[in-house]
Amino acid sequence: MPAFFPHLPRPLVIAHRGASADAPENTLRAFRLAVAQQADAVELDAKLSRDGRIVVIHDDTVDRTTNGHGAVRRLDWAALQRLSAGGAADDPETAIPLLADVLRAVVDDLLVNIELTNYAAPLDALPCRAAETIAALGVQKRVWISSFNPLTLFRFARCLPEVPIGFLVDQARPWLYTLFRWVVPHQAVEPHLKLATARAVQHWRGEGKAVLVYTVNQPEAMRRLFAWGVDGIFTDRPALARQIRDEQKHENRLPG
Ligand code: G3P
Ligand code: MG
Repeated sequence: MPAFFPHLPRPLVIAHRGASADAPENTLRAFRLAVAQQADAVELDAKLSRDGRIVVIHDDTVDRTTNGHGAVRRLDWAALQRLSAGGAADDPETAIPLLADVLRAVVDDLLVNIELTNYAAPLDALPCRAAETIAALGVQKRVWISSFNPLTLFRFARCLPEVPIGFLVDQARPWLYTLFRWVVPHQAVEPHLKLATARAVQHWRGEGKAVLVYTVNQPEAMRRLFAWGVDGIFTDRPALARQIRDEQKHENRLPG
């Protein structure tokens, strides 16, 4: 199993949906801003359009984050690409991007965490389609895959085993991890903030897993988790997280 980016600094600062406190989530603008704010990685939400393109948007519908209406999986890319996801109309920086476009834009500057969000269509072709995109761009060493859905992770691992996997653990259904952790190969466990107690962090790290906690936006929680030795946090505020990491390192209060 590939190691989880051992050469990178700890704790990793992962910009959740890009630098989403300061730019529209899951847009090129938010991902480029994460680079400017010196994040170590960006997280994005990938799913399939009706015509099988991998698009980057969090919700099952376009209603909350764009000026459109309807389920992403019932819309073709031609319709999705015309929507605005937060900026001026026709601005490609704030449109819904394709996964391949985000990878081309930022993968040389930081790692990209691709959350496979086919939760409304768990048997669709997303896992192997994502694997094909990653392989076609030759970015296997610059990405990792996450999902709450163990079947999706399992299917991805069969398609492209060299890419690391993070198993997302939801507050409402932590038993999914308990049940499927033995079946799904994974290098990282990615718990909700409320599940990340000192004891749990220590336990998972003792099992050799990287521990990446979501979504951490408050300075007190960042300081606490960093002091416990988590491997990374997902945050909407990467600039703040970088500042706190640097301060704690300076004060020698970070392990490693
Ligand atoms: O990767 C952490 C986070 O993205 C999982 O939750 O709903 O923000 O995609 P969500
Ligand atoms: Mg996500």
